[in-house]
Amino acid sequence: MNEPTPERIVVMTGATSGIGEHAVRRIAAQPDTQVIIGARGSGRIVPEGSTVIQLDLASLESVRSFSDAVKQRLADDRIDMLVLNAGIQYPNADQRSDDGFEKTFAVNHLGHYLLARELLPSMAEESRLVITTSDTHDPTNFPFAPTGLDTQALAHPSNGGLDAGIRAYSASKLCNLLTAQAFAELDEVNARDIQIIAYNPGLTPDTSLMRNVSGLSGVIIGLMTSGFLGRMVFGFLSRFNENLYPETSERAGVALAQLALGAVTPPSGSIYASLVKGKITFPDPSELARSDEARDRLWRDSAEMVGVME
Ligand SMILES: NC(=O)c1ccc[n+]([C@@H]2O[C@H](COP(=O)([O-])OP(=O)(O)OC[C@H]3O[C@@H](n4cnc5c(N)ncnc54)[C@H](OP(=O)(O)O)[C@@H]3O)[C@@H](O)[C@H]2O)c1
Repeated sequence: MNEPTPERIVVMTGATSGIGEHAVRRIAAQPDTQVIIGARGSGRIVPEGSTVIQLDLASLESVRSFSDAVKQRLADDRIDMLVLNAGIQYPNADQRSDDGFEKTFAVNHLGHYLLARELLPSMAEESRLVITTSDTHDPTNFPFAPTGLDTQALAHPSNGGLDAGIRAYSASKLCNLLTAQAFAELDEVNARDIQIIAYNPGLTPDTSLMRNVSGLSGVIIGLMTSGFLGRMVFGFLSRFNENLYPETSERAGVALAQLALGAVTPPSGSIYASLVKGKITFPDPSELARSDEARDRLWRDSAEMVGVME
C-alpha cells in the first residue's frame, strides 16, 4: 500500500487582500497543501479549506497568541512555507500600535520579526521564509528611502512633516530586508537548509495599501490608482525608470506564490527577489540593506523591543 502524501503546511500573513490574496489562491490550489492564515477581523475572503486564526500585527500579544495557536495546531508537524506579506502605509507617522510603537514600523517590521522568531523552531528542513519588502527601501530608487538606521527614531518618531508616512513605510521595508538578511545568517537556518527570501513586488497600484491615505493625497492616489489613468501615467514614467512599471496584484501575487512554492529560487548567496516588468530578477538591495552592522543592530534592538532574550 502507498504511504499517504505528507501535507505541505503554509502559514501566511497579508493573505486577505491585494497581492497576498492572489498568492494564497495559487498556493492553496496546490495538492496536499494546508494553509493557515493570520488575519484581523472576520468576514475576509480566503480560499476554501484554509484555516483563519486571529492576528493583529499591531499587537505583540496578538502575535504571541497567534504563534501559540499555530504551534498547537501543528503538534508534531512542521511549517514548509512561512509567508510574511502583510503591510500598511499611513499618510503620517502619528499612529501607534497597542504597545506604543509607530504603527507602520510595528506592523510591517516588529510584529513580523517576533512572529518569525516564534515560528522558526517549528519550520521544516528545506522550508522557505518569504518576507515582502519593497524597492522603496533603496535611496537610489526612491527619494524618501532611509540613508541611515535609527531604530529608536523609527519606533518613536518625534517629528512629523508631510513625508513622515512615506518615510516610515520605506524604512519599515528596509527593516524587512535587514531582518531577512539576519535570518539567512542564523546557524539554525543554515543547519536546516531553510531558504530565506525578501520579495519586492514592485509598484502595484491596484491593491488596498493606500486605504489609510485621505485628503488631497488620497484623491491624487485614487486617481493614479484608478485603473486606466494610473497605468497610463506609470507606464509612461517606466520608460525612464523601469521600477515605476505598474504591476498588477495578480502578477505580483503569482510571483510571490512562485517564490514561496520554490518554483523560482534566488541564485546562491542572494536573498533579494524583485519583480521588474513582470519578471522576477535578483538585483542587489541598497547598500544599507547589505550592512552587517545595521542588520545586527536592528536584530538586537528589535529583540529588546519585543522582549525576546538573546
Ligand atoms: N502595492 C504596492 O505598490 C506594493 C509595493 C511594494 C511592496 N508592497 C508590499 O506588499 C505587501 C502586500 O500589500 P498590498 O499592496 O497587497 O496591500 P493590501 O491590499 O492593503 O494588503 C495588505 C494585507 O496586510 C494585512 N494587514 C494590514 N494590517 C494588518 C495587521 N495589523 N495585522 C494583520 N494583517 C494586516 C491586510 O489585512 P486586512 O484584510 O485585515 O486589511 C491585507 O491582507 C505589503 O507588505 C506591502 O508593503 C506593496
